[in-house]
Amino acid sequence: MALTIAIDGPAASGKGTISRAVAERFGFAHLDTGLLYRATGLRTLDGTDPLSAAMSLKPEDLEADNLRTPDVAQAASRVAAIPEVRAALIDFQRAFARRAGGAVLDGRDIGTVICPEADVKLYVIAKDEVRARRRLVELLAKGHETDFETVLRDLQARDAQDSARATAPLKPAQDAILIDTTDLSIEEAVEAACAEVSKKHQI
Ligand code: CDP
Repeated sequence: MALTIAIDGPAASGKGTISRAVAERFGFAHLDTGLLYRATGLRTLDGTDPLSAAMSLKPEDLEADNLRTPDVAQAASRVAAIPEVRAALIDFQRAFARRAGGAVLDGRDIGTVICPEADVKLYVIAKDEVRARRRLVELLAKGHETDFETVLRDLQARDAQDSARATAPLKPAQDAILIDTTDLSIEEAVEAACAEVSKKHQI
C-alpha cells in the first residue's frame, strides 16, 4: 500500500534520521526537501540569482558534499523565504510525493503546503540544547571547527527566520502528530514514528 508520509520540524530535531528509517522500514522512497533549499542556497554563494538557481537545479546538485555546512544552511534559509523560489520547487516535491511505491518527505512545510493530504503527518521537535548538541557532533565528525554556543545560536536564528517568514513558515499542520525526541534514543524515536505509520499501513 503506497502512502505519503510528511515529516516536518525545526533544525536538527531528528526528522532526517526518522524519515530515512521510516522509508526503509516500509519500502517507501525518501526525499530530504532541505537539500533542495541547501543546493539552491549554495549556488547563490557565488552570486547566482536565487530564482535562477532554484529553476536550474539538477539531481546531481543534491549530492554535492558541501551541502551540510553552516554557511549553506543559512543560505538555504535565506532563499527559502523567497516565495518564487518555493514556488519553483513545488512541482518536483508533489510529483515525488505521489510516486506509486509510497514516499516519505521531510522538511518544514510538507504537511502544511506540499502535501496537505498526506496519510501521516509527523512534527518532530526536541529541546534547543539537545538539537544543538546533536548538530555539533555531526559537524565535528565532518571536520568543521565550531563550538556548542555557535551551533546553538545558528540553529535558533534559522528556526526564528523559518518560523517568521510569510510563505510556508515552519509550523505543525493542525492534524500533525507531535514527536518530542528530547529524551528518546534514535531507536525509540524511529519506533514512535513507525507506530504512527503502521496505523495507516494495511498490507
Ligand atoms: O537539517 P536541518 O533540519 O538543519 O535543515 P534542512 O532540513 O536541510 O533545511 C535547511 C533549510 O531549508 C531550513 O532552515 C529551511 O529554511 C529550508 N527548508 C524549507 O524552507 N522548507 C523545506 N521543506 C525544507 C527546508
